[in-house]
Amino acid sequence: MLTNESFPPSNPLRDTITNAYRMDETECLVPLITTAALPESSRVHIEHVAKQLVLKTREYKSKQGKIDSLLHQYNLSTDEGIALMCLAEALLRIPDKTTMDKFISDKISTVEWKNHISSDNSFFINATTWSLLLTGKVFSPALNNQKNLMSSLKRASSRLGASVIRPVILQMMKAIGKQFVMGETMQSALSRAEPLEKMGYYFSYDMLGEAARTEEDAKKYYGSYVNAINVIGASAKAKNPIKNPGISIKLSALYPRYEYTEREQVMKTLPALLLSLAQLAKKNNITLAVDAEEADRLDLSMDIFEQVYSDDSLRGWGGLGFVLQAYQKRAFYVIDWLADLAKQYDDRMTVRLVKGAYWDAEIKTSQVNGFPNYPVFTRKDSTDVSYLACAKKLLTLTDVIYPQFGTHNAYSVAAILEMAGHHTNFEFQCLHGMGRPLYDHLIETIVPRNSKNKSAPHVRIYAPVGTHKDLLGYLVRRLLENGANTSFVNQLSDETIPLDKIVHDPIERIKSKPSKPHPKIPLPKNIYDGKWENSTGIDLSDRRYVMLLKKHMQAALKDKWSASSIINGKIINNKNADPIFAPSNLNEIVGYAENATDKEVEEALQVAVLAQPAWGNRQVEERCAILLRAAQLFQQNMPYLITMLSREAGRCILDCIAEVREAIDYCRYYSYRAHIDLKPIELPGPTGEMNILSLHPRGVVACISPWNFPLAIFTGQIVASLLTGNAVIA
Ligand code: FAD
Ligand code: 2OP
Repeated sequence: MLTNESFPPSNPLRDTITNAYRMDETECLVPLITTAALPESSRVHIEHVAKQLVLKTREYKSKQGKIDSLLHQYNLSTDEGIALMCLAEALLRIPDKTTMDKFISDKISTVEWKNHISSDNSFFINATTWSLLLTGKVFSPALNNQKNLMSSLKRASSRLGASVIRPVILQMMKAIGKQFVMGETMQSALSRAEPLEKMGYYFSYDMLGEAARTEEDAKKYYGSYVNAINVIGASAKAKNPIKNPGISIKLSALYPRYEYTEREQVMKTLPALLLSLAQLAKKNNITLAVDAEEADRLDLSMDIFEQVYSDDSLRGWGGLGFVLQAYQKRAFYVIDWLADLAKQYDDRMTVRLVKGAYWDAEIKTSQVNGFPNYPVFTRKDSTDVSYLACAKKLLTLTDVIYPQFGTHNAYSVAAILEMAGHHTNFEFQCLHGMGRPLYDHLIETIVPRNSKNKSAPHVRIYAPVGTHKDLLGYLVRRLLENGANTSFVNQLSDETIPLDKIVHDPIERIKSKPSKPHPKIPLPKNIYDGKWENSTGIDLSDRRYVMLLKKHMQAALKDKWSASSIINGKIINNKNADPIFAPSNLNEIVGYAENATDKEVEEALQVAVLAQPAWGNRQVEERCAILLRAAQLFQQNMPYLITMLSREAGRCILDCIAEVREAIDYCRYYSYRAHIDLKPIELPGPTGEMNILSLHPRGVVACISPWNFPLAIFTGQIVASLLTGNAVIA
């Protein structure tokens, strides 16, 4: 991947975006806070409108989906909420009933569903809870008499197994799915949309399906997009594509390896696919938006978007759309690049501004990979501020950009209305199954579209279409979003949360925080609470690091590699060398391993036996310090080690990075454990006498490098043996 990689020439707008990728959070917020700031009078007005929206929306509670309450009840701060999400996530893809039953038994038995039975809860929640709890039946009359029910359920629990519960849970999952999916087919979705269109709503349809794993999947998803565009097109009556229903697509559905490490191949395939869909959408006079996915795909998606947008065949349409996630530190700067692109081609585009649906995954991915910082903000208020700053910028660019504000948050909506003033050349968007009460109220009273007010902003519903088989990823994101206690929709459905807590100015809140990054979300290197430091990875989705790694690897390749024995600090050169062949090309010699002779082995043993007592007598702290220094050297020499691993072990670069990191982690984790485990402990013996137990050195240990993890596991053995005071022959 690194050998043939070439990036388009850098330009200042792209460089600014790249520099902001994992920028320091405090620094990143400075221009956003300044841009988003509004005068006091505007803030008062925003708060007033937002509160009005919340109150009205709460009044609409009767219209609120029962599922909203269910999701609120099972929010993700409870074990049951997590279990429910795991059930939803897993059941939809477990193919056989036996495994489903085992899985259900496991999940049902480990959490306290009965905590969610309460007289305050709706019938629906209680019924669902009981179903989850034990029986698979809805005990409606018994709900009034919970004591009796409890004992009968206890009895029933011994009789009824997971196979009885399974269909009920699946039914419930389907009900949750239905809440978020507009229809299984385009036709059914269009019919369901009709009454809402009459109310003034517009639609953007999304064919469920993403992250294609095979070419077959990708072809299927491409086919469903083509079909959807044609069906939507047939119902598109307006002249202006913005006034017609549109489509949203995910690039990850169109190509099974839509990954930054496959950039070269992706650029040969994906732009052509997107272009053909865009041409079809243009022909059908509808808009097409490219959904935003994981942060490590942003750069790649911009390259694809640019290539497609610049195609002559799309000129004059203005219907190609980019989706921007305000939780990303780069978002504010991506807008400048988008506007520049539209200006270059003297055309327009649509830009949907959302906060972003992959937050949890972004945080975890950066931690797992040991990246220097996060691509997203760690406080929700920061994302809200970024959202407002981006919105304000977009509203200054309406000559080339048609802004679409995707949010369910009353404060964000009110702030955008305030910033827009009389300007109406933009629209709001919400997801099907979320935010309707808020927008019903907005359409009906705050910005009614009537004979007097023809230019009120549109409201468009993002409407997923498809079957449960393809629902998984989308559903998990919605469950996370609805279940998170920081989320606006979650707080809205909890009447106990006061208005002032729901409606607040994020700028003031973030300004008042002494630490802009969330103190409970440490940087990836500090996630082990200061006990040991997480190793640092290399972000291959950042072109700066790819270029640097490539440079170092090319330099490392110039070295001649030969492994010799080192005994007592002396390098032993002998003629007994075996060539080492590259696993990817067995005709290619990557270096030589000089095998030790019997005499040298004997010599090494003697030296090791003699050296061991002094080493074993050193303080633990001293041994740890030496191995921590080794970790530091592994970290510094990572590109060199990656080069060796890729050549000698035939690993791909991502696996090489992971392997070097594992070696570093062994040094640090074992050093941390050494302080705890090497302390002698006193234990009473069988006759009451006290014995002192300690992990004392055993002597000389021989470590052999395994073929599968030649660096990491080898290092693990050596480090463990050394830390416990042994001498090691490696
Ligand atoms: P709020 O409750 O105000 O905001 C919730 C959001 O805040 C979270 O989703 C997250 O982004 C952010 N957040 C939460 N906690 C933290 C934290 N600790 N630190 C930093 N940020 C935090 N999402 C995509 O990723 N790609 C898309 O293509 C996309 N398309 C969409 C299309 C439409 C029409 C809509 C309405 C949404 C779309 N979304 C998309 C989903 C969208 O990202 C979420 O619905 C949105 O984030 C919820 O924001 P809100 O203003 O409604 O709610
Ligand atoms: C998602 O798929 C709506 O695009 C957004 O989560």
